[in-house]
Amino acid sequence: MIATPKQDAAARPSIPPKVLRPREHHFRGSLGRFATGVAIVTFDGVTKRHGITVNSFTSVSMEPPLVLVSIARSTKAHDELEGRPFTVNILGAEQRALALHFAGKPSDEPAWIEGEVAPRLNNVLAFFECKPWAAYDGGDHTLYLGEVVDFNYRSGDALGFANSNFTTIPESQLGIEELL
Ligand SMILES: Cc1cc2nc3c(=O)[nH]c(=O)nc-3n(C[C@H](O)[C@H](O)[C@H](O)COP(=O)(O)O)c2cc1C
Repeated sequence: MIATPKQDAAARPSIPPKVLRPREHHFRGSLGRFATGVAIVTFDGVTKRHGITVNSFTSVSMEPPLVLVSIARSTKAHDELEGRPFTVNILGAEQRALALHFAGKPSDEPAWIEGEVAPRLNNVLAFFECKPWAAYDGGDHTLYLGEVVDFNYRSGDALGFANSNFTTIPESQLGIEELL
C-alpha cells in the first residue's frame, strides 16, 4: 500500500515539528517584502517605563483619530499595555540605535519627554500620544488601538525597515501630504 504523506509523518515520530520551519521562514520572508517605517511604543507600566520597537504601526481612522500597533504576547510590554495610554514614536533615519535599544540590544538611556498622557522620546520624526481605545485578539499578538490626543512631526529622513534590514527613506522622497 502506498502511504499518504500523513501516514508517512506518523511513521516517523522522530521528526520534530520543526519540519514546518521552512514554511514559517517563507511566510516571514513574504511579510518582509512589505516595507514599513519603524516606531517605538512607550508607556508607563505598573512598575516601570516601557519601550518596544515595532513596525506594525497602522493608521486606522481619521474621525475619531485612531492608530494601531500589534504587540507579541511574548513581550514584557504586552500585558502591561492593556488599558494604558501610550505614545507611538516614529523614528528618523539616524535613530537606528534607538530602534535596537528597544528591541533587546540596549545602549545609552535615551532622553524622555513627559507627554500629555504618556511618556515619549525626544527628537523623534513624529509622535502620536494615545489614550487606550480597544484591544483585539490577534493570535500570538494583541492589536492595541489608541485614540490620538496629541501629535506632531519634524522634517528629516525616515527610518525604513524591509526584509529584516533598516533603510533610509529620504525626506525628498516622502511626498507632500497636501497632494494626496
Ligand atoms: C524593526 C523591528 C520591528 C519590530 N516590530 C515588532 C512589532 O510590530 N510587534 C512586536 O511585538 N515586536 C516587534 N519587534 C520585536 C520587539 O521590539 C522585541 O521583541 C522587544 O525586545 C520586546 O521588548 P519587551 O519584551 O521588553 O517588551 C520588532 C523589532 C524590530 C527590530
